[in-house]
Amino acid sequence: MTARDALRERLDKATADLDPPFAVVDLAAFDANARDLARRAGGKPLRVASKSVRSRTLIERALATAGWHGVMAYTLAEAIWLVRCGATDDALVAYPTADRTALRELAADPGLAAAITLMVDGPAQLDLVDAVAAPGHRAEIRVCLDLDGSWRPLGLHVGVRRSPVHTADAAGKVAREIGVRRGFRLVGLMAYDAQIAGLGDAPPGDTLRGLAIRLMQRRSYRDLLHRRAAALAAVREHADVELFNSGGTGSVAATAADPAVTEVTAGSGLYGPALFDGYRAWRPEPAAFFALAVVRRPARGFVAVSGGGWIASGQTHASRQPVPWLPAGLRLVGTEGAGEVQTPLRGAATDGLRVGDRVWFRHAKAGELCEHVNELHLVDGAEVVQTVPTYRGEGRAFL
Ligand SMILES: Cc1ncc(COP(=O)(O)O)c(C=O)c1O
Repeated sequence: MTARDALRERLDKATADLDPPFAVVDLAAFDANARDLARRAGGKPLRVASKSVRSRTLIERALATAGWHGVMAYTLAEAIWLVRCGATDDALVAYPTADRTALRELAADPGLAAAITLMVDGPAQLDLVDAVAAPGHRAEIRVCLDLDGSWRPLGLHVGVRRSPVHTADAAGKVAREIGVRRGFRLVGLMAYDAQIAGLGDAPPGDTLRGLAIRLMQRRSYRDLLHRRAAALAAVREHADVELFNSGGTGSVAATAADPAVTEVTAGSGLYGPALFDGYRAWRPEPAAFFALAVVRRPARGFVAVSGGGWIASGQTHASRQPVPWLPAGLRLVGTEGAGEVQTPLRGAATDGLRVGDRVWFRHAKAGELCEHVNELHLVDGAEVVQTVPTYRGEGRAFL
């Protein structure tokens, strides 16, 4: 029996009484991923990217693993909720916020303000905070400076479009501006290397593209090593920063090796979604799955399951579709893809599937799976040992 067959048998047995659609997390794989990531961080703390987990129980489980500390939140409202729930007392909101209600709540509560750090890349975000709650009449607001992690060789732009602060000089200038503003404390820097951490360097079936990506990533890494050190030095002239966050699941070991970096982020690697099969250095074990029921057999060699169109965000591409995983030997139909209410599948494994059987899928990305289900069934061996709510299940749709 192959490992995939054994996994299928185990998941089927554990969930025999459940009716699809539903999602599970295999705890052994989740815990192994959490430990592996911590080992790869080589002693630097790992901050859990909550957007890639979206279940309080599993965020807390990661944080209970040696080597993990603090949450990288994706909205301020989420960070406030997590701190108020006691899930963490250290939340770095990794993206700027314009949520006035949440800002008002933060500014009114010194305990909350001590536990949460906002992301900024210039004075506009500071102005928004001041407009909501004037300095002198609010708690001190902790802020982190977002240093652009993209690579810009010869005027090109490789990476994501986020912060306008690209150079050490620019970082120093913003740090100086923050330093003269009342009611703010600059506590850190962040530089997310999306073109390394979030881009698989071994795309399946595309050797040439893989080579080009690896070359780009080596050059970009060298640029980041240099720029992170220089930016840190420039910022330190104006603020006594305590953290420098960088990296993601796809770059944990390399990022942790940079002496300027004090902590690394990871989230997706806990669930091991399909997009992370295209990485060479480390591949997480698949830990999150969802089950859909076979509801018809359109023709020989085909089955159709109910639901399926749980598409991942980002650039529209076939790789953003869910992957039929168990039984092995199923694939989406090119002309239809994963459908809103039904998804046809083809392949040799359809022969063994009958109406009422289930097919196990993997989402392309990690946390977005949780926006489709209210709960996650936690599987230990061949048993569901706990059923826990997702953010959505707790009525919390943050983004
Ligand atoms: C700022 C930031 N850091 C880190 C990450 C990496 O998260 P993950 O480990 O889930 O890929 C992301 C993902 O988009 C991010 O936006």
